[in-house]
Amino acid sequence: MKPRILVTRPIPDAGLKLLRKDKRITVDVYENDKIIPRKELLKRAKGATAILSILTDKMDKELFDAAGPSLKMIANYAVGFDNVDLKEAARRGITVTNTPGTEIAETVAEHTIAMIFALAHRLVEADRFARAGKYVGWGPQMLLGTDVVGKTLGIVGSGLIGMDLVERMFDGFGVKIVYTDVKRNEKIEKDELAEFLTLDELLKRSDFVSIHVPLLPTTRHLIGAKQLRMMKKTSFLINTSRGPVVDEAALIAALQKKQIAGAGIDVYEFEPKIPLALRKLDNVVITPHTASATIETRQAMSRRAAENIVAFLDGKVPPNAVK
Ligand code: GLV
Ligand code: GLV
Repeated sequence: MKPRILVTRPIPDAGLKLLRKDKRITVDVYENDKIIPRKELLKRAKGATAILSILTDKMDKELFDAAGPSLKMIANYAVGFDNVDLKEAARRGITVTNTPGTEIAETVAEHTIAMIFALAHRLVEADRFARAGKYVGWGPQMLLGTDVVGKTLGIVGSGLIGMDLVERMFDGFGVKIVYTDVKRNEKIEKDELAEFLTLDELLKRSDFVSIHVPLLPTTRHLIGAKQLRMMKKTSFLINTSRGPVVDEAALIAALQKKQIAGAGIDVYEFEPKIPLALRKLDNVVITPHTASATIETRQAMSRRAAENIVAFLDGKVPPNAVK
């Protein structure tokens, strides 16, 4: 029997085409465009050699047990990999890959930029206002926003996404960029693109704070009540990384108290739950984890996930092996 590759959800077809062309394997795609029920996932995993998983699939001990010793690889269709138990995978010799790259970095950076401008210009609020038929005459003080030009953008995390944001915001929009990371970014420092600050200092000085770190034990609740108190009253927080990096209850409280001016949120602490209290606020722009949702990027991620699988079958170290 040929090795079977389980794909847990239909994905854009670039990678699937690649896999289906490979005569060494059979490709088993879960047919429904919805999250595969856990029971079904455990059943279908049995005997699979590799699983192309999406970020809502928990790849944990139970799953590895259900799959059995045939399972050698998890190709996660995401940049994030907090849904995969890396330690347990390593213990069992299961290779794990993700799908980072310039495509997804550019797309998430664009979504972040869209949020920065949407917040500053109160775009979503103005749209709701106009749709509701509330525009009854022009007013000099109606729906006043704030300029982005001349402001300070604070970037937390200077990986591919943070770095792309630095490069795209540098020069074009007249913002000052500051950043923080666990270590200094050589390219940013060499080209003097942004000033390095501690997180506390960045929070105090930035008008827009955007988070681009992975979810790790050390980044869980990186932004909590204390950090939100350090931010300016006029500042905005943008999170397109992972929900639990921000203490969601503390963020909602800070927004309700107008301790910060607003937030652009794409990811939630208990996804897919978006708290009603957050949905009720006017000063937020919320998107349902769609920061990477462009056709180009979702195809690129599909190709990358498949290329990682093919490399693995070739006996090579896959290009996006997660360590
Ligand atoms: C999406 O959230 C991803 O990690 O790719
Ligand atoms: C993702 O690609 C990152 O490194 O930020």
